[in-house]
Amino acid sequence: MASMSVKLFGKNLRNPVMNASGTLGYGEEIEPLWGIENLGAYVTKGLSLNPHNGNPTPRVWEERQGLINSIGLQNVGVDRFFNEYFPLFKKKKTPIIVNFFGFTEEEYVACARRIKPDNLIIALEMNLSCPNVKQGGISFGKDPEMVYKIVKEVKAVTRIPIIAKLTPEVRNLREIAGAAYDAGVDGFTLLNTMPSLVVDIEKCSVPIRGGLSGPVLRPIALKAVYEIFSSLHVPILGSGGIMNYSDALSFIMAGACAVQVGTATFVDPYTIPKIIQELKNYLEQLRCPRISDLTGVAHG
Ligand code: FUM
Repeated sequence: MASMSVKLFGKNLRNPVMNASGTLGYGEEIEPLWGIENLGAYVTKGLSLNPHNGNPTPRVWEERQGLINSIGLQNVGVDRFFNEYFPLFKKKKTPIIVNFFGFTEEEYVACARRIKPDNLIIALEMNLSCPNVKQGGISFGKDPEMVYKIVKEVKAVTRIPIIAKLTPEVRNLREIAGAAYDAGVDGFTLLNTMPSLVVDIEKCSVPIRGGLSGPVLRPIALKAVYEIFSSLHVPILGSGGIMNYSDALSFIMAGACAVQVGTATFVDPYTIPKIIQELKNYLEQLRCPRISDLTGVAHG
């Protein structure tokens, strides 16, 4: 039997497939269709110290090769997540990665401090890349000095590993990632969505500005994974337009140790379990003993 398990920050995940932050609700919403315990790890919606209502509608927009969202980081707040929703993950022994953010540096730090270590918490995914809010998020994630400072401050208040989730909207991704690395970051999620907008030609207006995700982003995210893998030696979670198992494999071969699936779930809510099964079939057909052996093989 081929092994699908991967090790991340010293903890074993049953497989390398996760949801992308914000694309599986708080976990319980997908339960009527398939069990959350099938995931390698569940990634939370971005959590903040206090609950946040997010942006006015429309918040999602279907595009030809993707999806635009402008949720505006709506979330129940870190305390309510741990009181109300985390017990399901405890019951199902499902590891989680906590995506978190702040509108100020201080809020990032306070939010990270609030999250107590737990066996099931694999890492905190620091959202330095949300395009849908005026303060925090992408505005921090495009400035290497700010990235260094904020990662350093967050690292000082928690012993949970920190993953930085970066934006594609930069020309100097290596410099940004390098700044996070120098500040002690433990890993990366590459990439978040690309800022974009839609024009309604009948109303002569802009109905939505938001982050573009989906297949259109895949080659860009793959390049980011490939390049960062060859320069910085920390785990990478690949994210960007993964629709099926071959897309997932391409990220793993480019250097990701695990992948996150987001937009595809809105096309077919069973995409994640299908990808897990198809990756298993692929390993068995190839007689490859471990999926973890495939990380980075595209580098030759
Ligand atoms: O608008 C949003 O909540 C999106 C968040 C993100 O892309 O990180």
